[in-house]
Formats: sequence, structure tokens, C-alpha cells
Amino acid sequence: MKEIEGNIYLIGFMASGKSTVASRLSELTGLPVLEMDSEIESRAGMPISGIFKQFGEEYFRELETKVLSDLTSEHAIISCGGGTPLREVNRQLMRGRGRIIYLSVTPETVAERLNVNQTDRPVLKGHVNVKDISEILEKRDPIYRELAEDIIPTDGRSIEEICAQILTQL
Ligand code: S3P
Repeated sequence: MKEIEGNIYLIGFMASGKSTVASRLSELTGLPVLEMDSEIESRAGMPISGIFKQFGEEYFRELETKVLSDLTSEHAIISCGGGTPLREVNRQLMRGRGRIIYLSVTPETVAERLNVNQTDRPVLKGHVNVKDISEILEKRDPIYRELAEDIIPTDGRSIEEICAQILTQL
């Protein structure tokens, strides 16, 4: 592994393993983790589902951009929200400020993981099924791929394997 400059941005769909990979990568590299979703929740003083309910998605997206923009000068592993790369302004904030890594996942795995871990994902509006997930993922996948320097498949792989591949490629 070479000296890491700037941030490591982990991007990918909900339940692609960004938080788990971020935390293991942090142990392996000594870099701190910044969880965008947690930062947004702590600034808003409420869970993400509450922000969506009370203020709407656009307000959440504004907060998300603000948090991303405040974090750009850090030397950290940044675990992004699944929708963070959708805005051009956010993509600009990430580009050139570190390494962007896409954790790819199939809709089947997302549905399986979200059905086990029932955390509220307002973007899915309660539709945790392969068809609805596929529709959103099909739109987002090209955006994630275009933005990332590294694409790491995660289906059926252990966290150790995923982190080992990331570290080899860094
Ligand atoms: C979202 C993903 C969530 C969270 C919010 C919106 C999305 O993050 O930011 O619910 O648009 O995909 P995770 O990817 O960490 O679940």
C-alpha cells in the first residue's frame, strides 16, 4: 500500500457494506472514519428518517452536501450515503480530494441485507424488494461507476477479502 493522500471515499448503494468496510479499513490503516449519515443525524439532532419526514428529501440532500463540503480537508475514510454521488456538486467535492471506491452489490443481496437489518431507508419507502431496488440501482450504478477509480464487487465476499483488495489497489 502506498502512502494514502487525502480521503478515501466509499460510495455505493444502501447495504453495500460501506460502514462495515470503513470501520475495518480504519483498523488496518489507522485512518479515522467519518460516517456522513451519522454526521447529518448529529447536526440535525434527529434520525435520517425523521429529517425526510419532517423536512423532505431536498432538505436532507442540502445537509448532505454541506457535510461533504465541510469534510473535504480531512485525511480520513469517508463512508458516504448511498445517494451522495447523485449530485454533481458532491461529485466535484470528492474528485481530486482522495480516492473514490465503489462497493458494488446486486439487488438480491441488498434486499436480503435490508430485510435482516430493518433500519429505515426512506428512499425505498418501505419497498424492500428486488424489483424496486433494481430500478433505483440501475439508475445509480452508471453514476457510481463513472465517479469511482476502483470498483470492488462485494457479493458473497468477506470483509477481509474486500479490504485486502482495496488495500492492494491503493
Ligand atoms: C440514501 C442512503 C442512506 C441515507 C439516506 C439516503 C440513498 O445511506 O443517506 O437514507 O439515497 O441511497 P446508506 O447508503 O448508508 O444507507
